[in-house]
Amino acid sequence: MTMSHEQLVALSIVKFGKLNEYIQEKLVSDFSAIKGNMMMAEGLRSYIQENLETLKAKQKIEILDIGPAIGALSTLFALQTLNEFDLMKKTQVHLFDVSAKVIEQTLNCKFFFPDSIINPKLKNPIHQKLRQAKGEVGSAEKLPWKNEKFDIVLAGFLFCHLHDSIKPLVAKEMQRVSKKDGFVGITDKSEKNTFEKLFKNKKDEDCPVCLSLTKSA
Ligand SMILES: C[S@@+](CC[C@H](N)C(=O)[O-])C[C@H]1O[C@@H](n2cnc3c(N)ncnc32)[C@H](O)[C@@H]1O
Repeated sequence: MTMSHEQLVALSIVKFGKLNEYIQEKLVSDFSAIKGNMMMAEGLRSYIQENLETLKAKQKIEILDIGPAIGALSTLFALQTLNEFDLMKKTQVHLFDVSAKVIEQTLNCKFFFPDSIINPKLKNPIHQKLRQAKGEVGSAEKLPWKNEKFDIVLAGFLFCHLHDSIKPLVAKEMQRVSKKDGFVGITDKSEKNTFEKLFKNKKDEDCPVCLSLTKSA
């Protein structure tokens, strides 16, 4: 799904009145987060289309969202995308964040459901998935799972919060815990050196970027 800037703005968010939850504040103020997560969901959709038979044959699809923030926007988009292919029911969600409050509030669905960008009909099934989700607290340079545990690993706007010294460790951990032929999705603010040529004349915060990687054997 490709939308123009104007369509995305119209879809959003201005209608949210209260700012008492982090996700609302983020959605209202951070247009980039929505756009970046939409790009990541598009990457996931392409991956699912290419691997549909394999995914349909699995008993369970394990998804890890690193740095979900309260409301786990990346997971909401991913579940919506999986639902398009009737794969949401067998998805097990795992959330990992440095903040215990993020995990506690998200697993208890104590956040505003962003129903202008996620299909409101999915609110109950997604809440059910989050109530059944598993949460862990820690810092992402050391993930508490065995190698190749997850079919899908997501990091939405995590790297911009990390110290440069740990970014390579986190990237390595994401690769380690993702399955062969799994999906690793990263969306983030543009890295000045890497992306300034691609996004000439735009400020960094206007330019979410997205990497969709499939780990090969
Ligand atoms: C901007 S929010 C990302 C929200 C969401 N993923 C999105 O795409 O909109 C960044 C999240 O990363 C978490 N975080 C920051 N440093 C972390 C670390 N070292 N390990 C794990 N999570 C971290 C923060 O607590 C926060 O929930």
